[in-house]
Amino acid sequence: MIYADRRARLAAQLGDRGVAIIPTATEKPRNRDNDYLFRFDSYFHYLTGFNEPNAWLALRADGHSTLFCNPKDMEREIWDGIRLGPDAAPEALGIQAAYPVTELGTKLPELLENQATVWYPFAVHPGLETRVDEWLQVVRRKVRQGASCPDTQRDVCVLLDEMRMIKDAHEQDLMRRAAHISAGAHIRAMQVCAQRLRAGQEVREYHLDAELLHEFRQHGSQYPAYGSIVAAGANACVLHYRADNATIEAGELVLIDAGCELDGYASDITRTFPANGRFSGPQRALYDVVLNAQEAAVAATRSGVRFVDGHEAAVRVLSQGLLDLGLLSSDKAGTLEDVIERRLYSRFYMHRTGHWLGMDVHDCGSYVEPTEQHQVSDRTDPVTGATQKVRPSRILQPGMVLTIEPGLYVRAAPDVPEAYWNLGIRIEDDALVTSKGCELITRGVPVAPDEIERLMA
Ligand code: GLY
Repeated sequence: MIYADRRARLAAQLGDRGVAIIPTATEKPRNRDNDYLFRFDSYFHYLTGFNEPNAWLALRADGHSTLFCNPKDMEREIWDGIRLGPDAAPEALGIQAAYPVTELGTKLPELLENQATVWYPFAVHPGLETRVDEWLQVVRRKVRQGASCPDTQRDVCVLLDEMRMIKDAHEQDLMRRAAHISAGAHIRAMQVCAQRLRAGQEVREYHLDAELLHEFRQHGSQYPAYGSIVAAGANACVLHYRADNATIEAGELVLIDAGCELDGYASDITRTFPANGRFSGPQRALYDVVLNAQEAAVAATRSGVRFVDGHEAAVRVLSQGLLDLGLLSSDKAGTLEDVIERRLYSRFYMHRTGHWLGMDVHDCGSYVEPTEQHQVSDRTDPVTGATQKVRPSRILQPGMVLTIEPGLYVRAAPDVPEAYWNLGIRIEDDALVTSKGCELITRGVPVAPDEIERLMA
């Protein structure tokens, strides 16, 4: 069983007499009598596969797992749904013991007694540190009777983040399926956009958001992995824009950044397409620069290279494109090397080229190579003169998943050719690192402009 295997791997790292305590997420009120849709905590779910709220896992270094969960309660189950309950939990989840969550306050001090180290997620669950303190106080009160109290507290995320960074076969399969659903949703949104415009119907950003949601839910995704961005025209230059109510006009580009979550795993795709299905000359020219940058980043993504190599490859292509199209003038900006060194591209490309992806859309995991965490050097920013800390980038390994998402965002300005004003373009795929390169799991929706035009025709 995958969850038992993960618990065993974590237990093996807890050290002599270590105990890990991991709660799931709390339910959050939205307004009167109405909660936000519950979504479990990723660490908790990674170790249990258990979806109910109000649950905790306690894992000992010898591999013994205890679950605390909602007790069976006919009255509550009529309103909120069936509960697994502590009696059924051991067999269903492969754990050794289970208790009603109401017994947490008495059972956890017992579990901590005579242990050396308590591990829990630091700075994730507000108030957890206080609760751990309270349980330790209960243990300490028994010291005079010969009990010993853990003398060390450690952050369990340090261990779990490393485990979660390398996706196992089960996770890779889920992520491919989530990516496939999201790719279908992007195709549907592109096609509906062009069809509605051709039929003379109004298209608003929220119409395309509705198409994305339809496709996600139709294929079993529980919800979007993050708030979908559907941005028409100049709105695409707002990086954290959400699907709003702007009208989409023929002749504009539409940027959609959306992906579904499937059984706890995220997908994350961005496509930029012409609303009416045909790129104009300047749109296509800028799009080609971003696509070439993405291809360069993809080529630089494989096991054994640095995480930042993809970003640096993309920046080089984008910078050259900005010079070639006259968005940066070589008179003022200088050479390609000047543009890169002085980060002059950042006026049009102000974000990084990717992030880890997994259970969370910005998944856990250090971007610095763990063994080189303390190798810090100083760099003077050539523009601001400020001193920056530089740490060695993470080295990619098979099973890591990251996004590759270069973009260009051109606002109207007197020193920028008018043909490019208000164009915002990003192309984003999800890459599974393999020993030879990377597998782009989101290419069910094309990126080549000719192919986009064909499927919108
Ligand atoms: N594509 C969504 C995000 O990276 O935040």
